[in-house]
Parts: sequence; C-alpha cells; structure tokens
Amino acid sequence: MSSGPLLQVDNLQMHFPVTAGMVFRRQVGAVRAVDGVDFHIEKGETFGLVGESGCGKTTIGRCILKLEEPTGGSIRFDGDEVAHLPSTEVKAYRRRVQAVFQDPYSSLNPRMTVEEIVGEPFLVHKACARDEIPGRVRDLLSLCGLPGRVQDRYPHEMSGGQRQRVGIARALALRPDFLVCDEAVSALDVSIQAQIIRLLEDLREELGLTYLFIAHDLSVVRHICHRVAVMYLGKIVEIGESESLFADPKHPYTQALLEAVPVPDPAVEKDRQFEPIKGEVPSPMNPPGGCAFHPRCPKAMPSCSDLTPAMETVGPDRRAACPHTGPTQAAA
Ligand SMILES: Nc1ncnc2c1ncn2[C@@H]1O[C@H](COP(=O)(O)OP(=O)(O)O)[C@@H](O)[C@H]1O
Ligand SMILES: [Mg+2]
Repeated sequence: MSSGPLLQVDNLQMHFPVTAGMVFRRQVGAVRAVDGVDFHIEKGETFGLVGESGCGKTTIGRCILKLEEPTGGSIRFDGDEVAHLPSTEVKAYRRRVQAVFQDPYSSLNPRMTVEEIVGEPFLVHKACARDEIPGRVRDLLSLCGLPGRVQDRYPHEMSGGQRQRVGIARALALRPDFLVCDEAVSALDVSIQAQIIRLLEDLREELGLTYLFIAHDLSVVRHICHRVAVMYLGKIVEIGESESLFADPKHPYTQALLEAVPVPDPAVEKDRQFEPIKGEVPSPMNPPGGCAFHPRCPKAMPSCSDLTPAMETVGPDRRAACPHTGPTQAAA
C-alpha cells in the first residue's frame, strides 16, 4: 500500500459527445458533465460531494468505479492510475472499490432472494466455495444489522431501510477498501437515514473503509463527512473541512446552498429569510462564460462574466473558486 492518499483525482474531465443526424451521426457539441476536477481522499476518510442535481456527482463516482471512461485527467487509487490498469488487475480493482446506490429497489434484482443477491459477488469472483456462501451471507447480513431469517426473502418483501442494508452487505462481500455511496440514503425517511448513516460510520471504523459520499442533501453530508467538495456545473467551487465549511462558507454558491437548507429549529425557521437560489442550473452543454455561477450569483460583478476563477486558498484547509470571497472570519 502506498503512503499517499487512497484516492487522488487530478483534472478529471468527462465530456459526453452530443450527436445529431439520422444517418451520418456527427458530433455537434459536448455535455461537460465533469470539467476539470481535483480532490483526494485519505484512507479512512469520508469525503462528501455535494451540489444540485446534474452538476456531475454521479459521473465522478462512475469514473472512479470504472463504469465510465473519463475523457481527460487522472484517477489514482492507492498510487496506481486507474485508467491504465492492465486487464489482469481490473478485477482486483473492482473488488477493492464498490458502490452503494440510491435506490436498492432498482439496483437489486427483484427475482433474486437476499441470499442470492448478497452471495452473487462470491460466485462472480469465485471468492469462496459454493457451499460456504450461505454462511458468508449470514455473517454479512448480521454485520449490517439484518437477522438471518431475511436470507430467503425477496427485495419487495422488505422495507426501504432493510433493502439498503442488503445493498450495503452486498457491497461489502468482497471486503473492499473503498465505497462510492451515491445518494445512498437520499430515498429514505429521515429516521431511517440516521440508522443507515450510523451503520455506515460503524462499518467504516470496524472495517477501515474509506467513503466517497455523494449527496444533494447538505444536512446528511454535514453529519457524516470529514471533508466536503461543493460542485457547480462540472467543477468544484469550494472544498474544505466539513465543520468549518458549513459554519463559514466562502463561495456564494455554497452560501446559497446552505441558505436553502431548512433549519431543524422551528423558532429559527419561522423568522429566517428563506432565499432559494434564483434561476435554474444552466445546461452543461453550454455553460455561461467566466464564472459559471455568475448569472445566479447575488454577489456577481461585471468581471465575473469574463474571468474563470481558479481555486485559491481562502482559509485554513479551505479552497474556493471566487475572487470575491471575503477574508476568513478568524482573520477579520
Ligand atoms: N451518458 C451520458 N450521456 C450524456 N450526458 C450525460 C450522461 N450521463 C450524465 N450526463 C449529463 O451529465 C450531467 C451530470 O450528470 P450527473 O453526473 O448524473 O449529475 P448529478 O449526479 O450531480 O445529478 C447532466 O447534465 C447529465 O444529463
Ligand atoms: Mg446523481
């Protein structure tokens, strides 16, 4: 194992071609789903990726999972470039990097029993003898807080929270090091969300896992993540330690996102100026020039439509891509 970060992403780019024409399909443009993204994740860390729907979060996850071939940049896992893994090592990589998705109802095969679902990775990877599988599955289910009797059930016979536990048990079957959790709790009721988050945290400690935790809901990310990156239209606009980022957001987009999150205290919520972000997210096929957020930014200045802001250090362990962020509170 290398001594650097477990995952290092540099200048990652995923431009999907857009074609036109019935007979001779020609490329007429590109969806810049991910447009030059840098971040790293340390071993044992939970790293959050947030931003409105369509900003490129899932695409980053899919590139890391090797479900998508990036059009540029690099993804290094444990020191090795993922794009250039020889085919003999791709299988080993897929064992180490697993995914938990939003809707286990659509990601779990409805015709398979829980035992077949959770045991399938052992068969596919020939990871143990066939007659060992029921015992392995029982251990995994118990690790994920499910009683052994669910082994013969089908997904539709279970609750949403139980199904997500099955999805997690399956993801853990091959003892991965890294999980991409893409909106893993977003479809669940708040009380069930809390249980699944607790389970994920316990598993991380117990098994030494590392998470990329993707969510559009900031309140969820705030609780579980050590560091967070905020994305807008294919780019990271702010990145930093989770507590301080939520307490003192620097980028106007992060500030706007946080203002749109309801406060759990009704007394505070009643008097609060609720200001949703104005306008809609522009198309990533034709993003605005300069800072992509400028048409919606309450702090925009004329220069914002010309200059594409670079990520700069704006505080301890904090970087943001807005030249108009104020000094840090500590320094002010
Ligand atoms: N296979 C694809 N082909 C073309 N466009 C895609 C494809 N996958 C995603 N996109 C586009 O890329 C952008 C980012 O999508 P996605 O990564 O799913 O965002 P998020 O997960 O943040 O909601 C969206 O505009 C989406 O429509
Ligand atoms: Mg998504």
